Amino acid sequence: MPVPLFDTHTPLAPLREEILARITEVVDDTRFILGPNVAAFEREFAAYVGAGHAIGVANGTDAITIALRAMGVGPGDEVIVPSFTFYASAEAIPATGAVPVFCDIDLETFCVTAETVRAAMTPRTKAVIAVHLFGNVAPVAEIEALGVPVLEDAAQAAGSITAGGRPGALATAATFSFFPSKNLGAFGDGGAITTSDSEIAERARMLRFHGSRDKVTYEHIGYNSRLDELQAAILRVQLPHLDAWADGRRAAGRHYAAAGLGELVDLPTPVAGCDPAWHLYVIRHERSDELASALAAAGIGQKAYYRTPLHRQAPLVVYDRGLPLPATEEAARTHLAIPVSAVLDEAQAVEVTEAVRSALAGIDASAASAANH
Ligand SMILES: Cc1ncc(COP(=O)(O)O)c(C=O)c1O
Repeated sequence: MPVPLFDTHTPLAPLREEILARITEVVDDTRFILGPNVAAFEREFAAYVGAGHAIGVANGTDAITIALRAMGVGPGDEVIVPSFTFYASAEAIPATGAVPVFCDIDLETFCVTAETVRAAMTPRTKAVIAVHLFGNVAPVAEIEALGVPVLEDAAQAAGSITAGGRPGALATAATFSFFPSKNLGAFGDGGAITTSDSEIAERARMLRFHGSRDKVTYEHIGYNSRLDELQAAILRVQLPHLDAWADGRRAAGRHYAAAGLGELVDLPTPVAGCDPAWHLYVIRHERSDELASALAAAGIGQKAYYRTPLHRQAPLVVYDRGLPLPATEEAARTHLAIPVSAVLDEAQAVEVTEAVRSALAGIDASAASAANH
């Protein structure tokens, strides 16, 4: 039986009628920009993460640029960011006038640590973007103890939990993406900034709205970057289900472990104190490309998301300072995402695990036969 990389359809199917009803309400109400659903979603999402404020924006990339600017980042500043992450985590930095400085990750967790951040710090460091990659949650408190403000890039970590609270409420500010495949996904683009700092919240609110409070006087060069009313209405239906979906993602990780996948490949390790809602379930293996081809042939969804780390992506090479990033290089070479969703069950985990087992047996056999010739 094929197993897809994602399944966003099954969890949403029971909510279809309710979502359509809310869409109809918005269509009838006609307050399409910053209407009552955006305001209500902002209250509900802030309460969910445990932050004082949430500001809905157009996507998770704008969320990072706006949050950094609201935190006071600008020209002449440096922002530390991991090289092993989605492009947008770094792409959002030059838009503030600051420059990205790439740091390494911990290979087991795929997240930055206090040590990897410290190695990239300079007197110009103004902020660190701690990316909660794949749903794991970077050790924010340890990084803040270095004395530098942290922005959580929580795009992949909605629904994760830590001993210190939820992502979104762990640092100076945090950003989320509601891209449709995310743990909490809109039916189009969407994003949010969360913070408990009222001044940062106020600046972010202005920046998303042309740098204005009233669209009559303008205090900043800002953006037109709002969460759509329709998307907010859709997200409000889904938010009460996020914890159950996150539990499903955690259970998927347990199913893989129980199926014996850890005997075949390296499984992702939760950061200490974190219970990740795996957005992507990413394993590591030396022969990851061959494994990917064999899994594809067996109908198993898989993807190498970040084979080329950011410091070697053409538009970002200019920011590479040549700091050694050994864990980044190894993760880039060996990682492979395999199926995960809120509804991935035990039978599917066994199916994927057995496909990995036979793929690796095939790879070993062809390596042995090549060695004998
Ligand atoms: C880690 C990370 N940061 C930022 C983003 C950007 O979000 P968006 O696609 O909503 O702009 C994404 C997702 O796409 C992401 O995975």
